[in-house]
Amino acid sequence: MKEVKVGLIGANWMGSFHSVGLTNVRQAYHDVKPVFEHVADVNEAAAQLAADRFGYKKVSTDWHAVVSDPEVELVIIATPNFTHAEIAVAAAQAGKHILCEKPMANTLADSRAMVEAVEAAGVKSLVDFIYTKCPANVLAKELMDAGKLGDFVTFRGEFDCSYCADPNTPATWRQLAAAGGNRRERRAGRPDRACCEPV
Ligand SMILES: NC(=O)c1ccc[n+]([C@@H]2O[C@H](COP(=O)([O-])OP(=O)(O)OC[C@H]3O[C@@H](n4cnc5c(N)ncnc54)[C@H](O)[C@@H]3O)[C@@H](O)[C@H]2O)c1
Repeated sequence: MKEVKVGLIGANWMGSFHSVGLTNVRQAYHDVKPVFEHVADVNEAAAQLAADRFGYKKVSTDWHAVVSDPEVELVIIATPNFTHAEIAVAAAQAGKHILCEKPMANTLADSRAMVEAVEAAGVKSLVDFIYTKCPANVLAKELMDAGKLGDFVTFRGEFDCSYCADPNTPATWRQLAAAGGNRRERRAGRPDRACCEPV
C-alpha cells in the first residue's frame, strides 16, 4: 500500500472536489492510500471545514506552511488563478509533486517559470484540464482529426455560465481581471466591476 500525503491549498469549491476525489481514489486504485495531511486557506473557517469534513491533520491560513511541511508529498493548488505560479514554483522547489488547477497561470511567463521549476526539481506535475475528457469535446476532436469538418482557419470558443447572473451575487476574484477572472470584465476594462453589472 502506497501512502500519498496530501497538502491542499485553497479549500473552497475545487478544494472540496479534490478532497471528495481523494476519498474515492482507492475504489479505482486499491494500492494507493491518500492521506489528508495539511490544508491551508486564507479563510480559516474554510480550511477548518475541510479538516472537519475530510480529516486533514493540520490546518493553516498561510500556504507556505503546506509547502514547507516535510510530511506533505503532493500539493494540490485550488486557489484563484493569480496565485498558482508563486505557490507552484515554491512547491516544486520544496520537492513536492503538484496538481495545479487550471488555468495554469495568468501569463505565459508565469507558466514557463512553473515548468522550469518543476523540471529543475524533477517532481511530477499535472494541470487538470478536465474538459479534454468531456465526451462532446472528445467527439469534436475526433471529427476534426478525421478531417470531417474541413480545414480550420480560425477558432473561437466560449464557455458561458449563469452562476453570477444574479445582480445580488457578491463579486469574487472571478470578476477581477488581474486575478484571472471574467472575459467580459477584461473587455470592459473595469476590473473593479462585478460581471453581473451591464458593461
Ligand atoms: N478544473 C475545473 O473544472 C475547475 C472548475 C472551477 C474552478 N477551477 C479552478 O480552481 C481554482 C479555484 O477555484 P474555486 O472555484 O475553487 O475558487 P473559490 O473562490 O471557490 O476557492 C478559492 C479558495 O482559495 C482561497 N484562497 C485565496 N487566496 C489564497 C491564498 N493566497 N492562500 C490560500 N488560500 C487562498 C480562498 O479563500 C478560497 O477558499 C481556480 O484556479 C479555478 O479556475 C477549476
